[in-house]
Amino acid sequence: MKQYIIKGGTPLRGEVTIGGAKNAALGIIVAAIMANEPVTIENLPDVDDVHVLLDAIEGIGAIVERMDTHTVKINGALINNMSVDEDAIRKIRGSYYLVGALLGKYKKALVALPGGCQIGSRPIDQHIKGFEQLGAEVTIHHGKIDARAERLAGEHIYLDCPSVGATINIMMAACMAEGRTIIENPAKEPHIVDVANFLNSMGANIRGAGTDAIRIRGVESLHGSEYSIIPDQIEAGTYMLAVAATGGDVYIKNVIPKHLEAITAKLVEIGARVEEFDDCVHVVADHRLSYANVKTMPYPGFPTDMQPQMTTLLALSEGTSIVTETIFETRLKYVGELRRMGANITVEGNAAFITGVDGFSGAAVSAPDLRAGAALVMAGLAAEGFTSIDHIHYIERGYENFEEKIRGIGGNIDKIDAEDERAVRKFKMKVS
Ligand code: UD1
Repeated sequence: MKQYIIKGGTPLRGEVTIGGAKNAALGIIVAAIMANEPVTIENLPDVDDVHVLLDAIEGIGAIVERMDTHTVKINGALINNMSVDEDAIRKIRGSYYLVGALLGKYKKALVALPGGCQIGSRPIDQHIKGFEQLGAEVTIHHGKIDARAERLAGEHIYLDCPSVGATINIMMAACMAEGRTIIENPAKEPHIVDVANFLNSMGANIRGAGTDAIRIRGVESLHGSEYSIIPDQIEAGTYMLAVAATGGDVYIKNVIPKHLEAITAKLVEIGARVEEFDDCVHVVADHRLSYANVKTMPYPGFPTDMQPQMTTLLALSEGTSIVTETIFETRLKYVGELRRMGANITVEGNAAFITGVDGFSGAAVSAPDLRAGAALVMAGLAAEGFTSIDHIHYIERGYENFEEKIRGIGGNIDKIDAEDERAVRKFKMKVS
């Protein structure tokens, strides 16, 4: 089993470049199969979830040409199978987009229920409600979502909560439904806008993505396109907080500063310096940071996907902080691992009560999910001594070349075989 080994205590310094947004890529890859012509997607992140989804669409007959690490050409003209059920697809969340895309284009879909990180119950009732309102009959049997329709017709759909997945899924189905659909109370995350822009580049007619109402006029078919995915807001945010946790000074390049505003605002509030440029942010933390209260909210609020990283940073900051998780009910499970490194955090319900400590000490810990795994890497980089992190396959689902990028800004980290004593000794000699 692979693990990360980290020698902490070195402030991160230099420049790091952010890749394409994973969560936008998942929607865009699936949306691409709705066209009957080749679609070229650029700035694709080279992460495991993307590969799983590309394999899945290839499995149902899409032609997938990997042009280079970050570019893929997809042609959905020859899709011949509306049933997607592979073990791998059950593990990722973005698989549910196949329902919206196949239902929109072919009026039927049979897709294994999605998995993803174990951070709460993660229902899909809003997706189903939307499909049903568009005229589909949706049933769940043998672990699969079965959606079919004679025809789809535009509707006025009000989401009970601004779900990212439901917004994208309904948007995809509706863009090939007859007539006009309005999605009220949609999610407004940057990747919603990116998927809408991509669909529009293929000839869809979607207005208002990123606002309180999305208006969609159905079209009969979608055409080929070339599209470049936006930078990953969460990858960028993770580096911003890692820089702050290590007392570093780093230029984080290829970002859209506007998408990072909630993170930037909290960093500034606790005493870090953040300079914004056109497509870059410069984060400096040259003194101990202080406490803050944070509540996760749908965009433009503080992202739930940055909650474990923020909790980790506040656990190293002066004073008492409270982090409240409002989106997913069991997203504080990693706190036990942080405590092994010396964090002083108690969890009550959906809130973490944090008393800042002067420093962490390295320990053997295990990544419980993708973002909490990244937070443990941050903790290891800030800690005194050596940290090992197991179950890094979670982290590799969403961070491209994580250890290489961290090494590029001076972090002492390596990926090794957990049983390989020699590799451990070699790493320790190299960094001592
Ligand atoms: C997406 C992201 C994930 C991020 C989350 C919130 C992807 C692949 N994943 O997940 O990284 O943490 O947005 O920003 O893009 N809900 C319902 N019914 C539904 C759907 C959602 O009650 O039908 C609830 C969920 O339980 C949760 C909230 O809505 O409390 C938000 O979930 P949602 O935005 O749908 O998250 P995902 O799309 O699963």
